[in-house]
Amino acid sequence: MRIIILDNSQQVAQRGAEIFCQQITNKPDSVIGLATGSTPISMYQALIAKYQQGEVSFSKVTSFNLDEYLGLDGKHPQSYRYFMNDKLFNHININSNQTHVPNGSSETPLTAGQEYEDQIANCGGIDIQLLGIGRNGHIGFNEPTSSLASRTRIKTLTKETIDDNARFFTDDEFQPTLSITMGIGTINQTRAVVLLATGDSKAQAIKDMVEGPISAMSPASALQMHPNAIIIIDEAAASLLSQTDLYKHIEQQQLTLQKT
Ligand code: PGA
Repeated sequence: MRIIILDNSQQVAQRGAEIFCQQITNKPDSVIGLATGSTPISMYQALIAKYQQGEVSFSKVTSFNLDEYLGLDGKHPQSYRYFMNDKLFNHININSNQTHVPNGSSETPLTAGQEYEDQIANCGGIDIQLLGIGRNGHIGFNEPTSSLASRTRIKTLTKETIDDNARFFTDDEFQPTLSITMGIGTINQTRAVVLLATGDSKAQAIKDMVEGPISAMSPASALQMHPNAIIIIDEAAASLLSQTDLYKHIEQQQLTLQKT
Protein backbone atom coordinates (compact mmCIF):
# COMPACT_ATOMS: atom_id res chain seq x y z
CA MET A 1 0.00 0.00 0.00
CA ARG A 2 1.16 3.51 -0.77
CA ILE A 3 0.04 5.74 2.12
CA ILE A 4 -0.16 9.47 1.37
CA ILE A 5 -0.89 11.62 4.43
CA LEU A 6 -1.87 15.22 3.66
CA ASP A 7 -2.75 18.19 5.85
CA ASN A 8 -6.45 18.50 5.09
CA SER A 9 -9.41 17.22 3.11
CA GLN A 10 -8.99 19.73 0.27
CA GLN A 11 -5.48 18.43 -0.40
CA VAL A 12 -6.83 14.87 -0.35
CA ALA A 13 -9.45 15.77 -2.99
CA GLN A 14 -6.90 17.62 -5.10
CA ARG A 15 -4.38 14.75 -5.05
CA GLY A 16 -7.10 12.25 -5.96
CA ALA A 17 -8.19 14.41 -8.90
CA GLU A 18 -4.58 14.75 -10.08
CA ILE A 19 -4.12 10.97 -10.12
CA PHE A 20 -7.31 10.41 -12.13
CA CYS A 21 -6.38 13.20 -14.60
CA GLN A 22 -2.93 11.70 -15.04
CA GLN A 23 -4.48 8.31 -15.77
CA ILE A 24 -6.86 9.79 -18.37
CA THR A 25 -4.09 11.86 -19.96
CA ASN A 26 -1.91 8.75 -20.28
CA LYS A 27 -4.81 6.66 -21.58
CA PRO A 28 -7.75 8.75 -22.89
CA ASP A 29 -10.02 5.68 -23.20
CA SER A 30 -9.44 4.65 -19.59
CA VAL A 31 -12.01 2.57 -17.74
CA ILE A 32 -12.45 4.29 -14.39
CA GLY A 33 -14.27 3.01 -11.31
CA LEU A 34 -16.18 5.63 -9.32
CA ALA A 35 -17.70 5.90 -5.86
CA THR A 36 -20.44 7.80 -4.06
CA GLY A 37 -20.62 9.15 -0.50
CA SER A 38 -19.63 12.53 0.87
CA THR A 39 -15.84 12.04 0.57
CA PRO A 40 -15.56 11.89 -3.26
CA ILE A 41 -17.65 15.05 -3.80
CA SER A 42 -14.69 17.45 -3.40
CA MET A 43 -12.63 15.30 -5.74
CA TYR A 44 -15.41 15.44 -8.34
CA GLN A 45 -15.50 19.23 -7.96
CA ALA A 46 -11.75 19.31 -8.58
CA LEU A 47 -12.18 17.10 -11.68
CA ILE A 48 -14.93 19.40 -13.00
CA ALA A 49 -12.63 22.40 -12.50
CA LYS A 50 -9.83 20.64 -14.38
CA TYR A 51 -12.23 19.81 -17.21
CA GLN A 52 -13.43 23.43 -17.39
CA GLN A 53 -9.81 24.61 -17.54
CA GLY A 54 -9.16 22.26 -20.47
CA GLU A 55 -6.76 20.05 -18.52
CA VAL A 56 -8.68 16.81 -19.11
CA SER A 57 -11.28 15.38 -21.50
CA PHE A 58 -13.60 12.52 -20.58
CA SER A 59 -14.94 11.98 -24.11
CA LYS A 60 -13.39 8.52 -24.47
CA VAL A 61 -13.65 7.46 -20.82
CA THR A 62 -15.86 4.60 -19.63
CA SER A 63 -16.96 4.48 -16.00
CA PHE A 64 -18.30 1.84 -13.63
CA ASN A 65 -19.71 2.75 -10.23
CA LEU A 66 -19.21 0.53 -7.23
CA ASP A 67 -22.75 0.11 -6.00
CA GLU A 68 -26.40 1.09 -5.97
CA TYR A 69 -29.35 0.75 -3.62
CA LEU A 70 -31.68 -2.07 -4.54
CA GLY A 71 -35.22 -0.77 -4.98
CA LEU A 72 -34.39 2.73 -6.22
CA ASP A 73 -34.42 3.59 -9.90
CA GLY A 74 -31.94 6.06 -11.35
CA LYS A 75 -34.38 8.98 -11.20
CA HIS A 76 -34.74 8.73 -7.41
CA PRO A 77 -32.77 11.59 -5.81
CA GLN A 78 -31.16 9.17 -3.32
CA SER A 79 -30.08 6.69 -6.00
CA TYR A 80 -26.39 6.57 -6.75
CA ARG A 81 -27.11 7.01 -10.48
CA TYR A 82 -28.80 10.31 -9.65
CA PHE A 83 -25.87 11.28 -7.38
CA MET A 84 -23.32 10.61 -10.13
CA ASN A 85 -25.26 12.57 -12.76
CA ASP A 86 -25.71 15.44 -10.34
CA LYS A 87 -22.21 15.57 -8.85
CA LEU A 88 -20.08 14.71 -11.89
CA PHE A 89 -21.47 13.39 -15.18
CA ASN A 90 -23.72 16.40 -15.96
CA HIS A 91 -20.72 18.73 -15.65
CA ILE A 92 -18.13 16.97 -17.82
CA ASN A 93 -17.99 15.68 -21.38
CA ILE A 94 -18.37 11.99 -20.58
CA ASN A 95 -20.68 10.04 -22.90
CA SER A 96 -23.59 9.01 -20.68
CA ASN A 97 -23.88 5.71 -22.58
CA GLN A 98 -20.41 4.91 -21.30
CA THR A 99 -21.29 5.46 -17.66
CA HIS A 100 -22.40 2.40 -15.71
CA VAL A 101 -24.03 2.11 -12.30
CA PRO A 102 -25.42 -1.25 -11.08
CA ASN A 103 -29.12 -1.48 -11.88
CA GLY A 104 -31.02 -0.90 -8.61
CA SER A 105 -34.36 -1.53 -10.27
CA SER A 106 -33.40 -4.75 -12.04
CA GLU A 107 -36.26 -7.23 -12.29
CA THR A 108 -33.70 -10.02 -12.00
CA PRO A 109 -31.47 -8.81 -9.13
CA LEU A 110 -29.92 -12.23 -8.55
CA THR A 111 -28.37 -12.23 -12.03
CA ALA A 112 -27.74 -8.47 -12.26
CA GLY A 113 -24.38 -8.88 -10.50
CA GLN A 114 -22.99 -11.30 -13.07
CA GLU A 115 -24.28 -9.05 -15.86
CA TYR A 116 -22.33 -6.14 -14.34
CA GLU A 117 -19.20 -8.29 -14.08
CA ASP A 118 -19.61 -9.21 -17.76
CA GLN A 119 -19.91 -5.54 -18.73
CA ILE A 120 -16.70 -4.71 -16.85
CA ALA A 121 -14.89 -7.63 -18.49
CA ASN A 122 -16.17 -6.64 -21.96
CA CYS A 123 -14.63 -3.18 -21.45
CA GLY A 124 -11.27 -4.75 -20.64
CA GLY A 125 -11.41 -4.36 -16.84
CA ILE A 126 -11.09 -1.29 -14.64
CA ASP A 127 -7.86 0.71 -14.91
CA ILE A 128 -8.30 2.72 -11.74
CA GLN A 129 -10.95 2.44 -9.02
CA LEU A 130 -11.91 5.23 -6.61
CA LEU A 131 -12.98 4.12 -3.12
CA GLY A 132 -14.24 5.65 0.09
CA ILE A 133 -14.32 3.67 3.32
CA GLY A 134 -17.12 3.23 5.84
CA ARG A 135 -16.57 3.68 9.57
CA ASN A 136 -16.95 -0.10 9.81
CA GLY A 137 -14.30 -0.66 7.12
CA HIS A 138 -16.69 -1.35 4.27
CA ILE A 139 -15.66 -0.65 0.68
CA GLY A 140 -18.51 -0.33 -1.77
CA PHE A 141 -21.32 -1.97 0.18
CA ASN A 142 -19.11 -4.89 1.20
CA GLU A 143 -19.93 -4.89 4.88
CA PRO A 144 -17.91 -6.70 7.58
CA THR A 145 -18.00 -10.50 7.10
CA SER A 146 -18.19 -10.11 3.30
CA SER A 147 -16.19 -12.74 1.46
CA LEU A 148 -12.81 -11.31 0.49
CA ALA A 149 -13.19 -13.05 -2.90
CA SER A 150 -16.75 -11.80 -3.53
CA ARG A 151 -17.99 -10.57 -6.90
CA THR A 152 -20.82 -8.15 -7.79
CA ARG A 153 -23.97 -9.29 -5.98
CA ILE A 154 -26.79 -8.35 -3.65
CA LYS A 155 -25.68 -7.39 -0.13
CA THR A 156 -27.70 -6.71 2.99
CA LEU A 157 -26.75 -3.42 4.61
CA THR A 158 -25.74 -3.39 8.28
CA LYS A 159 -27.69 -1.34 10.80
CA GLU A 160 -24.66 0.95 11.16
CA THR A 161 -24.62 1.75 7.44
CA ILE A 162 -28.40 2.22 7.32
CA ASP A 163 -28.15 4.62 10.29
CA ASP A 164 -25.21 6.47 8.68
CA ASN A 165 -27.20 6.98 5.50
CA ALA A 166 -30.57 7.73 7.14
CA ARG A 167 -29.72 11.46 7.09
CA PHE A 168 -30.27 11.43 3.30
CA PHE A 169 -33.86 10.11 3.54
CA THR A 170 -36.91 11.89 4.94
CA ASP A 171 -38.86 10.12 7.68
CA ASP A 172 -41.67 8.94 5.40
CA GLU A 173 -39.34 7.94 2.54
CA PHE A 174 -38.51 4.31 1.70
CA GLN A 175 -34.88 3.66 2.72
CA PRO A 176 -33.44 0.57 1.07
CA THR A 177 -31.83 -2.10 3.23
CA LEU A 178 -30.33 -4.04 0.31
CA SER A 179 -27.75 -3.02 -2.26
CA ILE A 180 -26.03 -4.33 -5.34
CA THR A 181 -22.29 -3.90 -5.06
CA MET A 182 -19.05 -4.86 -6.72
CA GLY A 183 -17.39 -7.53 -4.60
CA ILE A 184 -14.04 -7.31 -2.85
CA GLY A 185 -12.67 -9.74 -5.44
CA THR A 186 -13.94 -7.40 -8.19
CA ILE A 187 -12.24 -4.43 -6.54
CA ASN A 188 -8.99 -6.31 -6.02
CA GLN A 189 -8.91 -7.22 -9.70
CA THR A 190 -8.77 -3.57 -10.81
CA ARG A 191 -5.37 -2.39 -12.03
CA ALA A 192 -5.14 0.41 -9.44
CA VAL A 193 -7.13 1.60 -6.46
CA VAL A 194 -7.28 5.09 -4.95
CA LEU A 195 -8.96 5.20 -1.54
CA LEU A 196 -9.78 8.59 -0.01
CA ALA A 197 -10.62 9.13 3.66
CA THR A 198 -10.80 12.23 5.81
CA GLY A 199 -11.74 13.05 9.38
CA ASP A 200 -11.23 11.29 12.70
CA SER A 201 -14.42 9.24 12.34
CA LYS A 202 -12.47 7.15 9.80
CA ALA A 203 -9.28 6.77 11.86
CA GLN A 204 -10.07 3.33 13.30
CA ALA A 205 -11.17 1.96 9.92
CA ILE A 206 -7.93 3.25 8.37
CA LYS A 207 -5.81 1.69 11.12
CA ASP A 208 -7.54 -1.67 10.70
CA MET A 209 -7.16 -1.49 6.90
CA VAL A 210 -3.46 -0.58 6.87
CA GLU A 211 -2.02 -2.14 10.03
CA GLY A 212 -4.54 -4.77 11.06
CA PRO A 213 -4.67 -8.37 9.91
CA ILE A 214 -6.44 -9.15 6.63
CA SER A 215 -9.89 -9.99 7.85
CA ALA A 216 -13.47 -10.11 6.63
CA MET A 217 -14.27 -8.01 9.72
CA SER A 218 -12.38 -5.16 8.01
CA PRO A 219 -13.28 -5.56 4.31
CA ALA A 220 -10.86 -2.77 3.29
CA SER A 221 -7.96 -4.77 4.78
CA ALA A 222 -8.20 -6.98 1.66
CA LEU A 223 -6.53 -4.07 -0.19
CA GLN A 224 -3.28 -5.20 1.47
CA MET A 225 -3.36 -7.85 -1.27
CA HIS A 226 -3.86 -5.31 -4.08
CA PRO A 227 -0.68 -4.74 -6.09
CA ASN A 228 -1.33 -1.02 -6.61
CA ALA A 229 -3.41 0.54 -3.84
CA ILE A 230 -2.94 4.24 -3.09
CA ILE A 231 -4.43 5.42 0.21
CA ILE A 232 -4.83 9.21 0.43
CA ILE A 233 -5.84 10.47 3.88
CA ASP A 234 -5.71 13.59 5.98
CA GLU A 235 -3.96 13.88 9.35
CA ALA A 236 -7.22 13.22 11.23
CA ALA A 237 -7.91 9.95 9.40
CA ALA A 238 -4.24 8.97 9.93
CA SER A 239 -4.32 9.77 13.64
CA LEU A 240 -4.46 6.16 14.91
CA LEU A 241 -1.75 4.78 12.60
CA SER A 242 1.36 3.71 14.50
CA GLN A 243 3.83 4.15 11.62
CA THR A 244 3.02 7.62 10.21
CA ASP A 245 6.66 8.75 10.18
CA LEU A 246 7.58 5.67 8.14
CA TYR A 247 4.75 6.26 5.63
CA LYS A 248 5.77 9.91 5.22
CA HIS A 249 9.40 8.92 4.74
CA ILE A 250 8.48 6.31 2.12
CA GLU A 251 6.33 8.85 0.28
CA GLN A 252 9.20 11.35 0.25
CA GLN A 253 11.45 8.70 -1.26
CA GLN A 254 8.77 7.85 -3.82
CA LEU A 255 8.42 11.50 -4.87
CA THR A 256 12.19 11.86 -5.14
CA LEU A 257 12.33 8.74 -7.34
CA GLN A 258 9.56 10.08 -9.58
CA LYS A 259 11.54 13.28 -10.17
CA THR A 260 14.67 11.40 -11.30
P1 PGA B 1 -18.63 8.79 3.21
O1 PGA B 1 -18.90 7.26 2.87
O2 PGA B 1 -17.68 9.30 2.19
O3 PGA B 1 -19.98 9.44 3.09
O4 PGA B 1 -18.09 8.83 4.60
C1 PGA B 1 -17.84 6.43 2.57
C2 PGA B 1 -18.34 5.01 2.35
O5 PGA B 1 -19.27 4.60 3.04
O6 PGA B 1 -17.76 4.34 1.48
